[in-house]
Formats: sequence, structure tokens, C-alpha cells
Amino acid sequence: MEGNILKYNFDQIYNRKNTDSLKWDVMKPIFERDDLIPMWVADMDFPVAQPIIDALKKRVDHPFYGYTQPGSSVIDAVVDRMWRKFQWKIEPEWVIFTPGVVPALHAAVRSLTHPGDEIILQEPAYHPFFPVVKNSGCHIASNPLKLVDGRYEMDFDDLQSKFDPKKGRLHNHGRAKAIIFCNPHNPVGRLWNGEEIRKMGEIIIGNGGFVISDEIHCEILFKGRKHTPFATISPEFQENSIVCMSPSKTFNLPGLEVSSIIIPNKKVRDNFLNTLAGIVPSPNIFGYIALKAAYMEGDEWLEQVLEYLEDNLIFLREYFRKNIPSIKVIEPDGTYLIWLDCRDLGLNNHNLKVFLRDEGKVAIEDGFIFGKSGSGFVRMNIALPRSVLQEGLKRIEIAVNKLI
Ligand SMILES: Cc1ncc(COP(=O)(O)O)c(C=O)c1O
Repeated sequence: MEGNILKYNFDQIYNRKNTDSLKWDVMKPIFERDDLIPMWVADMDFPVAQPIIDALKKRVDHPFYGYTQPGSSVIDAVVDRMWRKFQWKIEPEWVIFTPGVVPALHAAVRSLTHPGDEIILQEPAYHPFFPVVKNSGCHIASNPLKLVDGRYEMDFDDLQSKFDPKKGRLHNHGRAKAIIFCNPHNPVGRLWNGEEIRKMGEIIIGNGGFVISDEIHCEILFKGRKHTPFATISPEFQENSIVCMSPSKTFNLPGLEVSSIIIPNKKVRDNFLNTLAGIVPSPNIFGYIALKAAYMEGDEWLEQVLEYLEDNLIFLREYFRKNIPSIKVIEPDGTYLIWLDCRDLGLNNHNLKVFLRDEGKVAIEDGFIFGKSGSGFVRMNIALPRSVLQEGLKRIEIAVNKLI
């Protein structure tokens, strides 16, 4: 403790093996070896904020874990957070809790579409978006992002073409019904600004479409960036969107499975609730406790973790520039997932994957799982102690040097 400030030490290395951690314990079956530095799935190798631990411990000590409904204090924590962080005034009844954003996306698509409809994805796209579309019987209408001078942009002309019955269609099943929008974007790290969001939303809504906005990374932003929730652009945007929020990425709580889905339009909300009913359960007791503690008391930790992540980004950027210039860092506005352009290594997807695993000894996400345009790229998780990040980068450097 320094004065009243609790100073966290993110340099400390913890052993997470044998804790049923996806990142650490499931690396072996997925990557076929367990001597890798895990830099893949999006969770942080940092312990969570102390107020969250305290709140969970207190609840554990009350030995009744019965059926649970979120009380008004949990809902108010979300309402208050949206206002404090984004000046978005939401009503308590708009908030629906689900055990994760991905199940909510599945329910959202099913509640808004009929089999055979098209859903727009902006590739490279977070890979679970693909089964969200396919498992609902819909088709993917791809609106690939454009890489212009090292920065990704949306292709608005192509987006408009998704509503043209004749031009530029991937399938001929019908006009696009909705987009799954991702802001900040995983994997490319772009924070879309108000103007871009407005332009995208006007195309979708102007053509009778709907926006499912996954904003799970919206509080992991580097200095000087400010997130704009999709629904805050206009009342029309608010009525035609489902906004997915969650403390799980920001506060490193994915194992507690809690997210808040904000649906202002009553008809859309009722349809969504009907789709969830009996299939997607409500989050568990501990998810609610953690959400409330994170949103109400987690900011001291968050400020420190954001500073640490930004220093990790600076370290990584310099490391690649000086020592591995053949791999280019796509500059992110936020998230701790770094999109790396490895095309100059001249390896095909399979060889890049095997190379990073067997020569680099790092577990990194292959770019092609995010769609065709991810070929030649990889996604690296940098939410780990700096010394471990340095070791991972060194391993990649040694491996790349062997290629030359
Ligand atoms: C864009 C995006 N959406 C959703 C998720 C996962 O959400 P959940 O674990 O709440 O289902 C992630 C996890 O990394 C993500 O990056």
C-alpha cells in the first residue's frame, strides 16, 4: 500500500498450471506441446483487482448458493458504468445478463433472422463469429477490412453492396439482415471513431438492417482514445442495435462468465429473451458479485493494468523494430491482442504455425482462423509479465534468424 493507493505488481510471475486454465492447461491438446509460452487466448496473466477478490470471498463465506437473480445493485452497477465511462444513459430494464458475450451473439442472431439470411462480418473477424452465423442457418456476407498504410479501415462501398440484390453478393439468399460489428476490433485492434460508426450504421440501418455490436474490449484502450458505444450515435441507432458489454476482458474475469447485453428496443429485447429462455442460463452468483465489484471498485487496478499494457506495447514495438523487422506490428488503439504481419517471412499458413510452435516455442493464434484475409498474420496476447513477454520475443527472434 502507498498511502491509500494499492499498488499492483504486474511483473510478478504466477504458476497457473494445473488450475484447469484454458490458456495454460489446454495448450498441450491444442498446440501439441506444453513447453510453449502461452500468448494465445484472451486472458491476462495478472491477478484480478483486490476488491473483486474480497467481494467473492465474502460471498463464499455465506454458504448458500441457491438460485440467483441479479438485484437492483447489480443492474445499477451497469447503468452507472455506462454513464460514467461513456455518458450513455441507459434504463435498468434494457440490461439482460448472460453467461458470456458469445452465447448472447448466438441468441441475438437467432432472434433477428431466419435461416438463409445473411449476416455481415468484417474480416479478419473474431473466429467464434463464424459459427454464430453458420449455426443459426445464416450465411456470412464478408465485408473485409482494408489495410491502408499499416492501418485497417472499413470498406463502405463494399458494405453498401451487401444490400444490392445484383452486385457484389457472396450468396443469393437475400439481403443482409444484420452485421456483427466489433469495436474495438479483435483481432486488428482498431477503435472505430464516431464518424466511422455513423457511416457504417447509416448503411446498415438505412437498408433495413440491424447492428449487433460486440464492445467487450471497450475499456482496454491506450492513452488518448475514447470509446463510443454504437447506440449513443442517435436514437435511431439505439433502437436498431444490441450492444454487448462485459467486465470479463477489462477486469480479467472470463472464467466467471458474466456479461450485460443492452437492448433498448422492447420488441427486440422480448424476442432476445424468448430465444434465451430455458436454453441460455443466467450467470452464476459469483459472476454477479465480480461484475459489481469490478464496475464499482475496480478502477484503481484498471488504471494500473492499462499503463502496464501500454508499456508492454511500447516494449514489443521497439523489440520488433530493432530485432525482428521482418514482422510488422499493426498499431492497436486498444485490446491486449496484437496483430502481427508476418507475410515477409514467406511462410504459408501451415508452415508459419509450425514454425512459431516448433522453432519459436510460443503459442500464438494463427491469423487464418480469423478469416481468409488473416493469412500470413498472427495474433499475440501481451497481457503477461514483461520478462515473459521479452522471453517470448527473444524466442521468436532466434527462430526468425534461423530462416535467413
Ligand atoms: C470480440 C470478442 N467477443 C467475445 C469474446 C468472448 O466473450 P465471452 O467469453 O464473454 O463469451 C471475446 C473474447 O476474447 C472477444 O474478443
